[in-house]
Amino acid sequence: MVAAKRRSVIAAICAVFGSLAAVAETMPVVVDDGIPAPLSALVGDAARGKAIVASRQQGFCTLCHQIPNDVAASAVFQGNLAPSIAGAGSRWSAAQLRLRMVDSRRLNPNSIMPAYHRTEGLTRVGIAWRTKPILDAQQIEDVVAFLVTLK
Ligand code: HEC
Repeated sequence: MVAAKRRSVIAAICAVFGSLAAVAETMPVVVDDGIPAPLSALVGDAARGKAIVASRQQGFCTLCHQIPNDVAASAVFQGNLAPSIAGAGSRWSAAQLRLRMVDSRRLNPNSIMPAYHRTEGLTRVGIAWRTKPILDAQQIEDVVAFLVTLK
C-alpha cells in the first residue's frame, strides 16, 4: 500500500519533470565563436531589437555601451564600461553576435556583460528568476537582427 503510494508519487514527479524538460529549450549549438542557427528557428525583427537595445528596462545595454545616436537620442547617460556597439555589424557575423548575446562568458569568462539567454549556473539570482533568461529567444533574435545592421 505504502509502496504503491510511493510509486505513484514518484510517477507524478517524473511526469512533471518530463514535461518541464519537454518545454525547456535545448542549448544552442556553438560552432567556433558563434551560434550559427537562429534560436528556436525564429526570425528576428531589427525594429523590435532596436527598441530592446535602447530600453533601460529590457536590454539596459546603455549601462555599459555607447550606442549610435539615432538609436537612443534619449539615452543621455550612456556607460563606457564596454566598447561602443557602433559598427558591431561590420566587426561580427550574426552567429558571433548571437553567442555574445546568449552568453558572452563563453568567450571571456571574466566578462561583465550579462548572459542574456542563459539559465544554467546562475548565482545570486532570485529563485523566481533562475529559470528565466533576461531576454527570450525571440528577443535575442530581434537584437541580433538589429546589431547586424550597425555597419
Ligand atoms: C554590464 C555591462 C554590459 C551590459 C549591460 C551589456 N554589455 Fe555588451 N559588452 C560588455 C563588455 C565589457 C563587452 C566587451 C567584451 C567582453 O568583455 O565581454 C561587451 C561586448 C559587446 C559586444 C561586442 C562589442 C564589439 O564590437 O567588440 C556587443 C555587440 C555587445 N556587447 C552588445 C550588447 C547589447 C546589445 C547589450 C544589451 C542587450 C549589451 N551588450 C549589454 C558589457 C556589457
